[in-house]
Amino acid sequence: AFFQPKELPLKGKKVVITAGPTRERIDPVRFLTNFSSGKMGYALAEAANKLGAETILVSGPVSLPIPSGVTVEHVESAEGMLQAVLHHFDDADIVVKTAAVADYRPKYVHEQKMKKQAGDATLELERTTDILMTLGQKKTHQLLIGFAAETNDVEMYAKGKLAKKNADYIVANDVTREDSGFGTDTNTVVLIGKDNFEHHFDNMSKKQLATKLFETILAHEEDLQY
Ligand code: CTP
Ligand code: CA
Repeated sequence: AFFQPKELPLKGKKVVITAGPTRERIDPVRFLTNFSSGKMGYALAEAANKLGAETILVSGPVSLPIPSGVTVEHVESAEGMLQAVLHHFDDADIVVKTAAVADYRPKYVHEQKMKKQAGDATLELERTTDILMTLGQKKTHQLLIGFAAETNDVEMYAKGKLAKKNADYIVANDVTREDSGFGTDTNTVVLIGKDNFEHHFDNMSKKQLATKLFETILAHEEDLQY
């Protein structure tokens, strides 16, 4: 079997997890970002390590303690995160893209602090690279798990992202719930997989959920083997 069905089911496996927001610079003192706290990604890294994996955590700027036994690589921008993940991709067994990657960055990064002008201003933006989609196109043996932050039609959009990005699973998150999503200690998610696989989790702490997500995915992968 691909995974060892024991207490350390991820022993001998390399797991790469991305967490937190990215920062996209405007000038030396300003950037674009989002409200991601990194808690879900850090909880997943802690869980992967406890389940026996060699765990690499590629982290955007957050203020959380580093889980013991986990190797952290700090990145700032979407481009920095892409490079760090690609560096580890070939020998990774599982990649979990928990990070809230910026979809856009300023088209021009000003070398000096921008001065205000009379009246309104506009900021020109360009798209960042979709890291999950890039990995979905490149993957050979890797199990690819994405997240989806949605405010409406959660499962429909998550299924769309699963297919479009060639991921194996999407963890879909209703970010309008007060007990879920950005910044909270708890989360309510639906795990979506191929062939209409769907597993609904009750609201629980992100730490508890992290372990349950790995256990549920590993159990389903085992089922698929036979
Ligand atoms: N993602 C990524 N690179 C990006 C944007 C998103 O790897 N540049 C990943 C996220 O880490 C997440 C998944 O794609 O695992 C879905 O992110 P989400 O923001 O929900 O979806 P998008 O595809 O960006 O679509 P939209 O924001 O328009 O809903
Ligand atoms: Ca997005």
